[in-house]
Amino acid sequence: MPAKYQPMTLNEVIIQEQSAFPYAKGELSRLLSHIGIATKIVHREVNKAGLVDILGSVGSTNVQGEKQQKLDVFANDQFIAALRSSGIVCGIASEENDEIVIFDDELSLDGKYVVCIDPLDGSSNIDVNVSIGTIFSIYRRITPVGMKAEISDFLQEGTKQAAAGYVIYGSSTMLVYTTGLGTTGFTYDPSIGEFCLSYKFMKTPEHGKIYSINEGNYIHFPMGVKKYIKYCQEIDKATNRPYSSRYIGSLVADFHRNLLKGGIFIYPSTESNPNGKLRLLYECNPIAFLAEQAGGKATDGKGKRILEFKPDSLHQRVPFFTGSRYMVDKAEEFMREFPDK
Ligand code: AHG
Ligand code: MN
Ligand code: MN
Repeated sequence: MPAKYQPMTLNEVIIQEQSAFPYAKGELSRLLSHIGIATKIVHREVNKAGLVDILGSVGSTNVQGEKQQKLDVFANDQFIAALRSSGIVCGIASEENDEIVIFDDELSLDGKYVVCIDPLDGSSNIDVNVSIGTIFSIYRRITPVGMKAEISDFLQEGTKQAAAGYVIYGSSTMLVYTTGLGTTGFTYDPSIGEFCLSYKFMKTPEHGKIYSINEGNYIHFPMGVKKYIKYCQEIDKATNRPYSSRYIGSLVADFHRNLLKGGIFIYPSTESNPNGKLRLLYECNPIAFLAEQAGGKATDGKGKRILEFKPDSLHQRVPFFTGSRYMVDKAEEFMREFPDK
């Protein structure tokens, strides 16, 4: 008898997980399902890129002065629409919106959650058929239900995240999320239109062989990072060096590969950008939560856990070191040994 293909779907796993939170009323589960639906729509458009008029820029820039691509805007609109119609979310913070977007219809005002999102991560890879992603982070609001969401609902430490995840639109589309009960991965099966469980309790290797950093910026890096890169390139049989350099330029794709294979991803401070490039709320915090839940680490390179930063603005940036625990420890050792004046 041929084996039956009986995948567990995203919704089934979410419902199962919900039973671990006896107080939960299913809202977080429904919210994750809504994100799953928006993801399928974005997946569909990403896969048609080149066939329909979805490539290229729209001629506008976002608050960070970055050129907005059509897919950036499309994905942003899709996620906002899905979250608004969920009735569970009272507002969102997005890379593509200068200010928070408040949902003030009657249902949404009672929503208990806010979402921070990078709707399309890796924009520079859209036009060249290289993996891109979506990153999201979910918090319980701190303002009372029934009121309009406020900025304080979004400026919470990463440790307060109720859930976080990313979608990678790669050779297959995958959704990886956590609610604090481990990191779980799903692969999209287009033939049945479902995300199917493919990795339960993902564990990242404690040691790895890959380092991921934009070495084009080498001369601008802190001395500790320069020295660590040289360490990665040295020959040493005992520690499996030299390591391999792998850098896609989409945080989601670089992180996903390292999560599975073991490695370190670094976006450090540079002379011109003392806080690096990546944004705390919708890039670093969700990835840090997933990394820790998989047994990895995420810090600012100076011993501070990313999840413990108290944000003071929506689009705040932070230096980012994440991946296999011992690799992050080693990079931090170099940062301590070679401090910049
Ligand atoms: P986004 O496309 O959402 O603006 O994010 C791009 C980010 C991130 O995905 C990636 O790790 C990093 O920018 C790459 O930056 P560099 O090109 O400076 O290496
Ligand atoms: Mn991004
Ligand atoms: Mn983006």
